[in-house]
Amino acid sequence: MIPKHIAIIMDGNGRWAQKRGLPRTAGHKVGAETLKKVLAHARKKGIQTITLFAFSSENWNRPKEEVDTLMNLFRSYLKNDISQLTKEGVRVSFIGDRTKFAPDLQLQMNELEQKTCHLHQFHVVLALSYGARDDIVQATTRIAQDVKSGKIDIASIDTLLFASYLSTGEIDNPDLVIRTSGEERISNFLLWEIAYAEFYFTSVYWPDFDEKELDKAIASYEGRHRRFGKVS
Ligand code: IPE
Ligand code: IPE
Ligand code: MG
Repeated sequence: MIPKHIAIIMDGNGRWAQKRGLPRTAGHKVGAETLKKVLAHARKKGIQTITLFAFSSENWNRPKEEVDTLMNLFRSYLKNDISQLTKEGVRVSFIGDRTKFAPDLQLQMNELEQKTCHLHQFHVVLALSYGARDDIVQATTRIAQDVKSGKIDIASIDTLLFASYLSTGEIDNPDLVIRTSGEERISNFLLWEIAYAEFYFTSVYWPDFDEKELDKAIASYEGRHRRFGKVS
């Protein structure tokens, strides 16, 4: 069975560029083109949800010039490519701390989300300024507030309720997590949500990732036996 939900840590843009004697930002530009191809292919394959780690809460600590370039790339990506997808019936959501972004970007994110929240065919989730630990803490804070105000009872706190307070709230957990660039770590991506995900690591840098590489990851997933702690 193909995975219903794929989450991708799109890593290796900087090294891809450096290998070619280009500035790191050149890798981000090509990486944005890769994303377009991969989204179209995932949709064609019948993947229902795809979550993309595009910018982590820790990535704010990069040099200002790189962060500025990334912000401008997001701006043009949201305005052109993502807006186009929404016209084609794709649902778009954002997870992460969007208050850190410029007001025009926040406005655009809110609008795209609201405009497409009723669509169910293909769901693109962009993780921007996202950190799983922060997300778990914000969920905990809101649960505590709701207990304090009497909206929920302590006894009703269980894994289902907790998950509903995460920014991934209504979204099913990823079945497959892909990380490019040869790094085999999670880097504060969906910690809670990947409890039972399958992992696929490839040494391919994100700008070189393509339809064939996605097919390889899906084929690898199809050969796995998921047991969820039970006996198969
Ligand atoms: C991933 O590529 C993109 C972002 C984190 C924004 P990197 O920029 O991390 O590229 P490497 O890992 O340094 O090669
Ligand atoms: C993870 O990549 C974040 C994104 C791909 C957006 P990083 O390049 O920031 O992760 P580390 O620093 O290698 O762990
Ligand atoms: Mg990296």
